[in-house]
Amino acid sequence: MIALAGKTVLLTGASRGIGASMAIAIAKEGATVVGLSRSQQGLAQVQQQIEAVGGRMIAIPADVSRVSELSTLIKEVKSAAGPIDILINNAAIEIYRAFQNYSLDEIQRVLSTNLLAAIELSRLLLPDMLAQQTGHIINIASLAAKKGHPYDSIYSASKAGLLMWADAIRQELSGSGVTVSTVCPGYVKDQGLLSDTKVHAPRFAGVSMSKDVVAAVIKAIKTDRAEVVLNENAYMTLLTQFLFAVEQFSPRFGDMVNRWLGVPQLNLKRAEVQSAMVQRS
Ligand SMILES: NC(=O)c1ccc[n+]([C@@H]2O[C@H](COP(=O)([O-])OP(=O)(O)OC[C@H]3O[C@@H](n4cnc5c(N)ncnc54)[C@H](OP(=O)(O)O)[C@@H]3O)[C@@H](O)[C@H]2O)c1
Repeated sequence: MIALAGKTVLLTGASRGIGASMAIAIAKEGATVVGLSRSQQGLAQVQQQIEAVGGRMIAIPADVSRVSELSTLIKEVKSAAGPIDILINNAAIEIYRAFQNYSLDEIQRVLSTNLLAAIELSRLLLPDMLAQQTGHIINIASLAAKKGHPYDSIYSASKAGLLMWADAIRQELSGSGVTVSTVCPGYVKDQGLLSDTKVHAPRFAGVSMSKDVVAAVIKAIKTDRAEVVLNENAYMTLLTQFLFAVEQFSPRFGDMVNRWLGVPQLNLKRAEVQSAMVQRS
């Protein structure tokens, strides 16, 4: 069992949503959280909450989608916080569209934020972790990493890419002291990018609470889990994993399940709500 106390954890997407709850929970475990996100204000609020319970957070505003600037950012992180023991790749964005309607800029933004930033941050931090023969990289993927979600194809691609890249490097790093985990949550109802759109998850798809995602992340670090699928409760999680196994044999059966659950309709609705939100802002 790996303890978090005394560790330094670099967490992307710490300013709001599940990442903010993760930052607070990790700080309560006695770790120093180095929080990255674009919103300085969001980070400051999380930092206040952490300091109120006696924890420590270093807030560094940064846009992780600027992948070529991440090496400079990591120098800043290390000079502010010292060596990083644990990297949590949590920051992500989702843009819902029919595939042909994505602009190249949108595709690049989703892939850079959700996938390339995670890969590049890990590449930059790995040499120190390997030298210390200890370290943990944890990636927050999604059930969309396991089965594509229509009208959310670029997000699905980013999360599937994250899962497979992590799966490959976990094997490369076996025996090095550096471990890799990926957590794949289902719809989260109380916080984050689904609840922000105020669109409810499909009735039978399962919904999780952000505290369960946070608990799964902490457990994955402490017990070095390779991959964690998380959907509402133990029964739904087992059913979800069983469906994914069947879908390996028959992707069309999986398409049918997604249609029956209402995943395409949900994402079309989210596309509408998102474009209304963009127009208002
Ligand atoms: N919510 C769900 O239902 C659900 C389900 C499955 C998986 N997940 C995964 O869980 C993770 C957290 O999602 P969430 O629901 O908490 O999302 P969220 O509420 O939208 O929060 C996303 C976080 O990422 C940060 N971020 C976005 N773009 C960034 C950029 N370019 N540079 C730096 N930080 C950036 C945001 O901060 P700024 O805007 O301040 O930059 C924010 O802190 C994501 O990986 C998501 O894919 C969520």
